[in-house]
Amino acid sequence: MVATDGGRTVEVQTSPDHAWTELGDDEVHVWIGSLRRPPARLAALATLLNADELHRTRVLPSPTDRRRFLVGRGQLRLLLGRYLGTAPGAVRLIRLPNGKPIVASSAGRAPLHFSLSHSGEQVLYAVTRTGEVGADVQRFRTDMDWRGLASRFFAPAEAIQLRSGERASGLPAFYRLWTRKEAMAKADGRSLFWWLGTDLSSDRTPGWRLWTWRLPAGVASVAVRIPGWAG
Ligand SMILES: CC(C)(COP(=O)(O)OP(=O)(O)OC[C@H]1O[C@@H](n2cnc3c(N)ncnc32)[C@H](O)[C@@H]1OP(=O)(O)O)[C@@H](O)C(=O)NCCC(=O)NCCS
Repeated sequence: MVATDGGRTVEVQTSPDHAWTELGDDEVHVWIGSLRRPPARLAALATLLNADELHRTRVLPSPTDRRRFLVGRGQLRLLLGRYLGTAPGAVRLIRLPNGKPIVASSAGRAPLHFSLSHSGEQVLYAVTRTGEVGADVQRFRTDMDWRGLASRFFAPAEAIQLRSGERASGLPAFYRLWTRKEAMAKADGRSLFWWLGTDLSSDRTPGWRLWTWRLPAGVASVAVRIPGWAG
């Protein structure tokens, strides 16, 4: 699927195993995939992980979380390896002090920015050379007090909008805003709390491009910093 928004193209592919990896300098590629993989595939993906990732896989208490982390990182490496023209296992990933994983820079090339997010069995990857990127996917949860969360943490205008139902209402509208805030926080490194209180209901956010998709049982958003973008 290819989505366009205000002139900039966003490519949405359904499987990160796809062989297609040409990335234009002003493109953002967004991949939505699954974390469910058969055992043989898990073993193959595990061979791609570095020592830090294998350690993190091992210490996760639940088998489901172990599988999800392994597949999320293994598929990430396949994807990045193709964009970088490198063997997946040789992609140099480092972790910033705040936990954000990045590709170690290589001289003479525009950095490859990426972000990954998972929710349940769904995984979202965003890759670009344009600027810092953040991605967030959330499955709908109906067992939480989203109205209370919005009233307490969201910007006043957003909370009013959610209550009035003018622009959009209900759980999907809450998750639209929530994923936009997570995506912005993951892109720029500021705390999620800062973004929770920032009004992101508008499609225009100066210095940023922000896209949101409604999924069958959730919402996904991707934010990319584009200095000078008027919004
Ligand atoms: C930490 C955080 C990214 C986890 O988000 P989440 O919704 O629970 O989980 P997601 O699946 O969407 O994202 C997790 C992925 O984001 C990445 N990530 C982790 N920390 C990150 C950070 N600080 N910034 C950007 N990406 C981060 C990792 O790839 C991680 O997946 P992996 O561990 O399997 O590789 C979330 O709390 C957040 O958005 N933080 C924004 C930055 C922030 O507020 N930090 C405060 C630290 S006190």
